[in-house]
Amino acid sequence: MDFDIKTNEKGNLSIGGADAIELTEQYNTPLYVIDEMKIRDNYRRVYEAFSSQYDKFKIFYACKANTNLSVMRILEQEGSSIDAVSPGEIYTALLAGFESERVLFTGNNATDEELKFAVDSGVIINLDSISALKRLSKLTDPEEVKISFRVNPKVGAGHHEHCITGGDLSKFGVMEEEAADVYKLAQDLGFAPIGIHTHIGSGILDPEPFMLAVETLMDVAGRVKDEAGVKFEFIDFGGGLGIPYTPDEKKLDLKTFSKEIVGLFKDKLNEYNMGNPTMFIEPGRYIVGDASVLLTKVNTIKQSYRKFAGVDTGFNTLLRPSMYGSYHHIVVANKPAAENTQKIDIAGNICESGDLFARDRPMPEIEEGDTLAIFNAGAYAFSMSSEYNSRPKTMEILVNDGESEIVRERGTFADVLTNQNVPVRLLKK
Ligand code: LLP
Repeated sequence: MDFDIKTNEKGNLSIGGADAIELTEQYNTPLYVIDEMKIRDNYRRVYEAFSSQYDKFKIFYACKANTNLSVMRILEQEGSSIDAVSPGEIYTALLAGFESERVLFTGNNATDEELKFAVDSGVIINLDSISALKRLSKLTDPEEVKISFRVNPKVGAGHHEHCITGGDLSKFGVMEEEAADVYKLAQDLGFAPIGIHTHIGSGILDPEPFMLAVETLMDVAGRVKDEAGVKFEFIDFGGGLGIPYTPDEKKLDLKTFSKEIVGLFKDKLNEYNMGNPTMFIEPGRYIVGDASVLLTKVNTIKQSYRKFAGVDTGFNTLLRPSMYGSYHHIVVANKPAAENTQKIDIAGNICESGDLFARDRPMPEIEEGDTLAIFNAGAYAFSMSSEYNSRPKTMEILVNDGESEIVRERGTFADVLTNQNVPVRLLKK
């Protein structure tokens, strides 16, 4: 298995040096436990792999994966920049201490208000359509804003069809064939574009489609340089680096992966005489995915037509299994090394049949009162969470060297009702 499951001397799961069961006693469940050192290690590993081969290299952490302010602060300290996809993410990044030049806004179907917000925030704006370009030109002085374009390189990849963002079915970016004309149009409107971008999908463990996208984007960049005379300050290959979720999946071989990408990048820079622009990548999942565990307590063992272990949270805190059929590895946190003896469904407490963390999962004996640890809950878990069924948002804690701190309080019933107004005529007399 290509991810760590550590057992401590009490026989309990250890997360960042803290005892998972003691954490549940202190903070209750459900609980996201974020391991600070994992985030730092993941960031450093990616940074080292690429920057050791090409020193003009920057990571734009895709904060949609996890926008917790403490996670953002950790990455700010590490020197990351931010890929933001909405005004809310720009706001969060600036609040977390990222200067505007460290934020790239990649909207899609962005409204005029959103584009204006990005302009006023001073961030780099990565445009997704000719429509956005034309509208942006009317909202600001084109000379005052740094722009780039997202290109669809006609190749896509990802762990699920919902997460493939390149190719001819995708809503994202401008077509590669029209890219040179789009850059010329931008210049006619008074802009001086500085970058080019692509992001082909998410959860990619096979380097091949990624390499194809790099090759296509570099060819497009070369054409744009030759035909429109654009001198690129940056070339951005997006995110998508996968992590193993199942016990059989292997970690990306980052050294080989980065070597192949940087090699191709450099060859193409030479081929098209493009100088030495900064290379950006935008990993989200790779940086934070394996850094959190979701702890949840079993309250019901039920033998119905099938056998279920029922827990105290559901797809309100981790949507990925229900939404994409994603596998998340689960262990019993009070006996993480126990042998599997059965196949069982792990069911959440949301009022829908699709609310399952696992179907027919090989597991050890599970009893009421046991705590389950659901792995790889750092990316797209809290950030896609909801208050469905009027369940308040779940607490997040940060662990570092065995110490724990609350980085998001548990939501309350009152939080679920915030911002509502009841017309006077409907009030109970
Ligand atoms: N850059 C752009 C422009 C993106 O749209 C995304 C992800 C990323 C970077 C980061 O991708 P990553 O490195 O995390 O794969 N909710 C889905 C993932 C959706 C990703 C959307 N865009 C999931 O839970 O698998």
